[in-house]
Amino acid sequence: MSPDSKQTDLLIRNATLIDGTGAPARSGGLAVRDDRIVALGDLDGWQGAKDIDAGGKVLAPGFIDVHTHDDRALIANPTMDCKVSQGVTTVVTGNCGVSLAPLAIDRRPPPPLDLISEKPEGFFADFAGYLDFLDKEPPATNALAQVGHSSLRAGTLDSLDRPATGDEVATMRHRLEQSLEAGAIGLSTGLFYPPAMAAPTEEVIELAKALHQARALHTTHMRDEADHVIDSLGETFRIGREAQVPVVISHHKCAGQANYGRSVETLALIDATRGQQHIGLDVYPYVAGSTMLDSGRLMGASKVLVTWSVPHPDATGRDLKDIAADWGVDVEEAVSRLTPAGGIFFMMDEADVQRILAYPHSMIGSDGLPHDSHPHPRLWGTFPRVLGHYSRDLQLFSLEEAVRKMTGLPASEFGLSDRGRLAVGAAADLVLFDPDEVIDAATFEAPKTPARGILEVWVNGRSVWRDGATTGARPGRALRLQSLTLPSAA
Ligand code: ZN
Ligand code: CU
Repeated sequence: MSPDSKQTDLLIRNATLIDGTGAPARSGGLAVRDDRIVALGDLDGWQGAKDIDAGGKVLAPGFIDVHTHDDRALIANPTMDCKVSQGVTTVVTGNCGVSLAPLAIDRRPPPPLDLISEKPEGFFADFAGYLDFLDKEPPATNALAQVGHSSLRAGTLDSLDRPATGDEVATMRHRLEQSLEAGAIGLSTGLFYPPAMAAPTEEVIELAKALHQARALHTTHMRDEADHVIDSLGETFRIGREAQVPVVISHHKCAGQANYGRSVETLALIDATRGQQHIGLDVYPYVAGSTMLDSGRLMGASKVLVTWSVPHPDATGRDLKDIAADWGVDVEEAVSRLTPAGGIFFMMDEADVQRILAYPHSMIGSDGLPHDSHPHPRLWGTFPRVLGHYSRDLQLFSLEEAVRKMTGLPASEFGLSDRGRLAVGAAADLVLFDPDEVIDAATFEAPKTPARGILEVWVNGRSVWRDGATTGARPGRALRLQSLTLPSAA
């Protein structure tokens, strides 16, 4: 086919086009050749080997899940059903300080690293090896991979309850630089978690300077999302400023009843500081979080559900209070008997969640944990829930705005210049959905339920999800830092 021929691989006609920029929806069609969009709008004279009548349903850019723990899911479940069933076509991995590479380890990894692999052989000693593996055994979705600070620490320090020495920082920085060269897109921290709690701000700044040199970015699960959330925002801004890197605040929230309502304060501070430096943020659409279960760290939760437990697999899916009552012990004692374990924590205020979702600079990230036996429903429900529940049913924002928060905005924050929008020449990552039907179906009781209303999903021009099932195709690509244009620090 000559490039200007009107004969092509795939035509999608009679759609409602939402282009990812926030612009109003319009009627039209779209043509795909190989992995690119080659025409948009009026398809007069075009002929396709495959010709789909969309019946007026919405065609949008594929969604970008900016906050995932899919590092090993891309390998273990390469058809990525939990994500493509939601219309997600690109995932960002290595969040919260936890990444599969670079880490050589010979024992069960310390929590929360065990959330992505309980087995030491699941990890990759070098980042290039991890990305090469994804090239050879591609998943259904595209992936952008970060280096986790806690993974660097676990591979460098003999004990994690202290700051790294100068030599150890140098070793970690060298491994980070090698990873960035291989294509890692940035460094995440999880200063909230035991493997990184003892790391002073200066340790992170020293590492983040390597990000500045490579034009990469920094994301963070902050040290404190509860009583000291303002201090933690200050620490995050300082790291961005001193290392001169763009920062992304992960799963922004105000945790614990005492902090309900404080997103008014945090968003005002983020907004005021955005004038001086680049700050992004993501959020998931639920009042409950999920992570490792840990004594003394129940985050002011009003209710806790067990998502997995090594010594007590039968506790999975149960309420922690009921387990403690059955055993005739207090909650703290129940936690220590259950660990290593994971939990779902009901610890947020619905008004805060809505305020953060509606903030124009916030992106959508699922934070799903793909290896949990009874996962938080966000793993299967996040994107349809924003579209169906928060946009259509509650009218928190328009459908165009909902789509922008999951496409155009994350594409610009993560430097994906040819994804995240419908445009001639852009990659053909697409989702066709029914705007009246789309809704999450995953619940806290039945979390592994695919969403409704996602009709078909294409990654790099190939169909990966159709009529409620995966097609088995795996056209995803491991995208490298060198192909991105990330925002600058200021
Ligand atoms: Zn986190
Ligand atoms: Cu996370």
